[in-house]
Amino acid sequence: MFIRNVPITSLSSHPLNNEIYNGNMEIDDLSENIKRVGLLEPLVVIPSKKQKSYYVISGNRRLKALISLGFKKVDVKQVKLEENDIPYYIVSYNRTRLKKATTLLREIDILEKYYYTSKEFQNGKIDLGTNAELIRGDKRKVISKKIGVAEGQISKLKTIRKIRPDLLDKIDNDEISIRQAYILCERQLQEDQSISINHIKGKKSNSGGRFNIFCKSSVDMREIPDGKINAIISSPVFYGQNMRTYSKNPNELGKEKKVEDYISNVCDIMNECYRVLSKRGVMFVHLGDTYDKNGSLLNVPHRVVVEMMKRKSFILRNTIIVKKVNPIPNSVETRLSTSYEFVFFLTKSNDYHFNHIRIKSKTQNKGTSAPFHRGEQSGYSPYISDGKKNIQDFLDTEMTDIIYTSVANQIKSKKQFNLLHPCPFPEGLRRTLLALITPNLTPRNTIKKMSDFHLLDPFMGVAGLLFDGYSLGMSVWGYDTNSNYTKSVIKEFNRISK
Ligand SMILES: C[S@@+](CC[C@H](N)C(=O)[O-])C[C@H]1O[C@@H](n2cnc3c(N)ncnc32)[C@H](O)[C@@H]1O
Repeated sequence: MFIRNVPITSLSSHPLNNEIYNGNMEIDDLSENIKRVGLLEPLVVIPSKKQKSYYVISGNRRLKALISLGFKKVDVKQVKLEENDIPYYIVSYNRTRLKKATTLLREIDILEKYYYTSKEFQNGKIDLGTNAELIRGDKRKVISKKIGVAEGQISKLKTIRKIRPDLLDKIDNDEISIRQAYILCERQLQEDQSISINHIKGKKSNSGGRFNIFCKSSVDMREIPDGKINAIISSPVFYGQNMRTYSKNPNELGKEKKVEDYISNVCDIMNECYRVLSKRGVMFVHLGDTYDKNGSLLNVPHRVVVEMMKRKSFILRNTIIVKKVNPIPNSVETRLSTSYEFVFFLTKSNDYHFNHIRIKSKTQNKGTSAPFHRGEQSGYSPYISDGKKNIQDFLDTEMTDIIYTSVANQIKSKKQFNLLHPCPFPEGLRRTLLALITPNLTPRNTIKKMSDFHLLDPFMGVAGLLFDGYSLGMSVWGYDTNSNYTKSVIKEFNRISK
């Protein structure tokens, strides 16, 4: 039934509408449109409890726009609805609206309640109202159709709310996608299922032969004798990146309140690295910077390396820039996106092995006899990430201190290692570094066979680096506090070493 010229003051949003869409009612474009062409669709209303007053069921944004434009009267269409069906109609009328994740979840909740009531009706308890769709399809399918969102997205959103509700705001603000948030939740679930206190306390989980993996903090690597290790390549947890959570431990490295405490904790581990590194050993430490809450960079990587050198007599041979060729665009528009991180190249003396590959051009060098081809297992080169690439695709031909790499591909790494990790070593980076220090097995070298070369990653994660080293014939050592990673890594080493 049409009613002409209803005073705008007699109209109000239905309370349920406010509950679901509050905070999601931008009207600038709509007001502009109504100003130009008038109101094309009448508002749909039901009588409210007060006399001659109405609740708007469809057209709440239009109502807000009309009020802002100073309209006094408006035509409306009054409909009859069963009380039970109101939620269903409110959501249906808003099907085409652009919605934030939190709004979608409120719609899903409302519809689930509605359809639950419908189900109860099937058991003879409550009035079904006008809708019997559920009899034809299952609840999630019907809701997905109703709100215009794929079933998979609905289940992802519900998982995110359950596991990491803190990420919903980030999705609403376009800082991360539903898919990225869901990946973080999957990882959290994996961790929840597998972190056992015993492991975290640091039981030795495996040792012997060419792979030695420990589930414990590398602040104490007593399993490794002094000076045993020939090369350390590692990426410690970066400071304060709260999207990357590796465990439920509130005292986990990287979660320190003060950056000074983080620097001190990392350097305690670096002291242990110094102890286990041989005199002719080499070490690469990969670190990225963090912004504080005032939006200022903290200079964490350099502060760590300065502290390391204060504590121990490391020699800093290079500060290498790791340039991401496909940096993640950031949502902040008042500064440039961050596109690089650092790798510090440190040694204990000036007498160490380093493959300086003097190259005239990329093409000339392709397929030359690189030293690491002479590993015990032939046919493998750490240069090559996909059978096509060469070290010069990552380092430039002049062997300068910039390494070009793609952002680590979590999905690819998951396929490779059957485990999600928030920041596995990018393949190009780990293989380039390994290529630079893999020993040349010449008679003059003190390392006579590859298994005498000991490679350590004190923050191994899914251990891409160690698997590379192992394939070259090296003996590898890895530490991680997360038993989820160590268990999988041990399983994989057991499989490939058979
Ligand atoms: C940046 S990730 C390194 C990822 C690794 N490079 C890879 O390719 O998967 C840091 C790792 O250090 C681990 N970790 C955190 N605190 C640690 C500690 N005190 N000792 C050993 N590992 C630690 C985390 O669980 C995480 O897997």
